[in-house]
Amino acid sequence: MRRPVIAGNWKMYKTIDEAVSTVADLVRLVDGVDDREILIAPTFVGLQAVANAARGTNVLVAAQDCAPHPGQGAFTGEVSAEMIADTGATHVIVGHSERRQYFHETDASVNQKIRACLGAGLTPIVCVGELLSDRDSGAAEGVAGRQIRGAFEGLTGAEVVRTIVAYEPVWAIGTGRTATPEIAQQMHRLIRETIANLVGSDVSEAIRILYGGSVKAENVSELMQEPDVDGGLVGGASLDALSFSRIVRYE
Ligand code: PGA
Repeated sequence: MRRPVIAGNWKMYKTIDEAVSTVADLVRLVDGVDDREILIAPTFVGLQAVANAARGTNVLVAAQDCAPHPGQGAFTGEVSAEMIADTGATHVIVGHSERRQYFHETDASVNQKIRACLGAGLTPIVCVGELLSDRDSGAAEGVAGRQIRGAFEGLTGAEVVRTIVAYEPVWAIGTGRTATPEIAQQMHRLIRETIANLVGSDVSEAIRILYGGSVKAENVSELMQEPDVDGGLVGGASLDALSFSRIVRYE
């Protein structure tokens, strides 16, 4: 059985105080939920404070990105995976479509960042997903398959199984337009088959694949009913603790 993961991505929202008070509310609202992993990804400046506020609870903390270079070095503006681990965070979102679109993230840099995370003992949440133009032209499966192969290039099965994948169709992010459960299932199946071809079916059957793109309390249950959907990566609806706790507590 794959353990479900519900992760909130706060993007460039919330002051440190707001982040700490939201996570404190969330901790209360999801108290006792222990059959699924719950994650929150604040900004870098809020990471340490949120990690402190969540320490010892069932809420885990993720960064939204990391440097491709391990350790320390002369890379102005960068934060390494080791530094993220030092805060108490356990996960890192890697290759989010906004980073690919606005910050020139490529499959090659995603691959380096995954390696950096694994080297620091962190779990990367590897995001893939097609643009609307890809879907309209029938290229969605090709794009997602290529992104998966690029992200995991040269990694062993033992490494790949330590990651989480998030399928996030770009046309569904922040648009209110969710992929239908059928589309999510079809793409998750394709991703699982691509991983099976790369590193074998033991890994592809064990790895968690989250869906992201306008997930909310009203649609999470039907998405989670699909056999290959193992969780959600939630943007807008994770900013409010009550709204996010309803998604976490889906049945
Ligand atoms: P959304 O964002 O839930 O606001 O669509 C999802 C994401 O970008 O991870």
